[in-house]
Amino acid sequence: MILPLTFRDVSFEIGGTRLIKDLNCTLEAGPRTMILGANGAGKSLFLRLCHGLLEPSAGRISWRGAKGGDPRRDQAMVFQHPVMLRRSAAANVAYALKLKRTPQADWPAIIDDALSHTGLRRLSLTPARVLSIGEQQKLALARAWALKPQVLFLDEPTASLDPASTHAVEEIINAIHGQGTRIVMTTHDLAQARRLADEVMFLNRGRLLEMAPADRFFKQPENDLARAFLKGDLLWWRRGRDNLKRKPSKPGPNGEGQRR
Ligand SMILES: Nc1ncnc2c1ncn2[C@@H]1O[C@H](COP(=O)(O)OP(=O)(O)OP(=O)(O)O)[C@@H](O)[C@H]1O
Ligand SMILES: [Mg+2]
Repeated sequence: MILPLTFRDVSFEIGGTRLIKDLNCTLEAGPRTMILGANGAGKSLFLRLCHGLLEPSAGRISWRGAKGGDPRRDQAMVFQHPVMLRRSAAANVAYALKLKRTPQADWPAIIDDALSHTGLRRLSLTPARVLSIGEQQKLALARAWALKPQVLFLDEPTASLDPASTHAVEEIINAIHGQGTRIVMTTHDLAQARRLADEVMFLNRGRLLEMAPADRFFKQPENDLARAFLKGDLLWWRRGRDNLKRKPSKPGPNGEGQRR
């Protein structure tokens, strides 16, 4: 097992702006982790750092390492807008297997299994780029399924899906988890986070403000911004904590001045 994955005082900056700030955390084997936070909180950057697509500007990111496998090959990531190759759905899965150097004799069975489990078998010969957005999202999951990674990072895997497809994708995610793959994902859908999370990370403005078991987090978040976020009260257009410190002003005759 390549886990745990450890962040020690990790910062990431671009052009002198720190976008991830002094982040410390450990992702142990096992639970499904949901990363929550407002737009621009740093969720996608965090996943990209985890996946090795970005290098920290300061601090250290380390996997348990060589003893348990190859951290570069045994983890996969599904992006919100997955990039499909200009070839069939099946060939897209095959390409992922080729990159992982899976023996070619095993490909047909693995591809069939991955496409069946994602409900895409009938589309296996269809060019991936003509698939609907939801189907492409499922194909991206099929590619991840085929690779059987130890860790799978998912960036808003259901953001543009209808309720039925969202349900289907959640079932696929749970099936992948059931196969022993560690799930780390972002979502804006709090109901989904409640359904899927074993553990929650709450990010705000590049900082990890709370990391807790899901039950505890949803019942009683310790951080006041996390509490505001869960209530739908995190006012992102105001800076920092001002919005929480501000006393609710007396409502005027037309209700103006009331806290939204
Ligand atoms: N390449 C970049 N150059 C400059 N700023 C960037 C770059 N990438 C990200 N940022 C900034 O870093 C912050 C965090 O971005 P990130 O994409 O991680 O947010 P997020 O939490 O995933 O938000 P969302 O919920 O909208 O997907 C944002 O303010 C974003 O504008
Ligand atoms: Mg994002």
